[in-house]
Amino acid sequence: MPGPLPEGDPAPRDGALPPAALVDVGKRGFGVYVHVPFCASRCGYCDFNTYTATELGGGADQAAYADTVLAEIALAARVLDGAAPAVDTVFFGGGTPTLLPAADLARVLDGLDKAFGLAPDVEVTTEANPESVTRESLTALRRAGFNRISLGMQSARPHVLTVLDRRHRAGRPQAAVAEAREAGFAHVNLDLIYGAPGESADDWQASLDAVVAAGVDHVSAYSLIVEDGTRLGRQVARGELPMPDDDVLADRYLQAESTLTAAGLEWYEVSNWAATDQARCRHNELYWRSGDWWGFGPGAHSHVGGIRWWNVRHPTAYAARLVDSESPAHAREVLDDGTRHVEDVMLQLRLADGLPLASLDSAGLAAAERACDDGLLEAAQHAAGRAVLTLRGRLLADSVVRDLLA
Ligand SMILES: C[S@@+](CC[C@H](N)C(=O)[O-])C[C@H]1O[C@@H](n2cnc3c(N)ncnc32)[C@H](O)[C@@H]1O
Ligand code: SF4
Repeated sequence: MPGPLPEGDPAPRDGALPPAALVDVGKRGFGVYVHVPFCASRCGYCDFNTYTATELGGGADQAAYADTVLAEIALAARVLDGAAPAVDTVFFGGGTPTLLPAADLARVLDGLDKAFGLAPDVEVTTEANPESVTRESLTALRRAGFNRISLGMQSARPHVLTVLDRRHRAGRPQAAVAEAREAGFAHVNLDLIYGAPGESADDWQASLDAVVAAGVDHVSAYSLIVEDGTRLGRQVARGELPMPDDDVLADRYLQAESTLTAAGLEWYEVSNWAATDQARCRHNELYWRSGDWWGFGPGAHSHVGGIRWWNVRHPTAYAARLVDSESPAHAREVLDDGTRHVEDVMLQLRLADGLPLASLDSAGLAAAERACDDGLLEAAQHAAGRAVLTLRGRLLADSVVRDLLA
């Protein structure tokens, strides 16, 4: 089960933000995240804040969920009181947003439009499990204004899908991509996971070849993280399944890079490849560049004007707060300059654009020079004043970040 929320300071019951936080909202973009905390079953590796019908019991039903989120949207409109610009990006994530009827997702999107306005070129994404969409639901989502879909494929091989506890059959993700294209989605992402127990280099190559053949314009590939408290975590702890090996993970990453690049997809963040600039996920870019966003739903995090807060985690507690016309925020913190700097370096170094050397202190500059000598940062970019990871640097991104911040 998900771990405890971070501490932070108590959040006010009306959700009010200090006036100073409202001055420049959206200067680096304004996004909205809507968390949908329901799944048909829980994958053994996943520790996201999501619940199956049996875990939730009758108390927090999916049928009422859209109205509960609409209540938080009304609260956000009161708190922001016109200070936010039109929404640049909307991202429905989960959980499995597409377990809700398309009409419910459409109603939430409409509520956001009425509360804040959607920018004329707004990006509207939903995550979806391949087995949770149909031609009809995809067409309804497209009609409602969704223009990007992110499907959780994970692998092309049945035995890998089984070890990951996925419900869909091999081949279904590619069929869902074709249906999304027919429904008019210009932007389609497939998520892959590498390093699952029992996955060979051939298995991984089959998955990479399958996403290329599916003709998507975006691919996310993440190594399998073994999270404490998950079924997979327990299986690994008991020695029933092996921990993913770091050298194998590095090989898998290199395999992804060469296959995806050869197919015309270019990395723009360590784990993300896109066919064109327009195909990049603008919502994630807004996070990585520390824009402002309001996260709706249980456990969702928000960041507005240098204040970060997070909602109560359980759907029942979330709904109860809103029924009482109270903010569902559990706690919050003011980001000081030091925290912002650490986060900027952590997030921006993972981007193909890198980060300006001018943002580093003298120890960080010395570390960047060493990383450049070690072939972890691009020499030409370094000379031009930016820290940009080389391919080898991407394999060691976390340790480069640690060095730049030491
Ligand atoms: C939380 S899911 C939500 C969307 C949808 N339910 C799905 O599974 O595709 C988003 C992505 O996170 C990935 N993910 C979740 N837990 C992970 C882990 N422990 N290691 C790597 N990827 C993980 C999922 O596989 C999925 O592609
Ligand atoms: S379907 Fe997605 S969100 Fe749900 S348990 Fe599996 S990985 Fe997690």
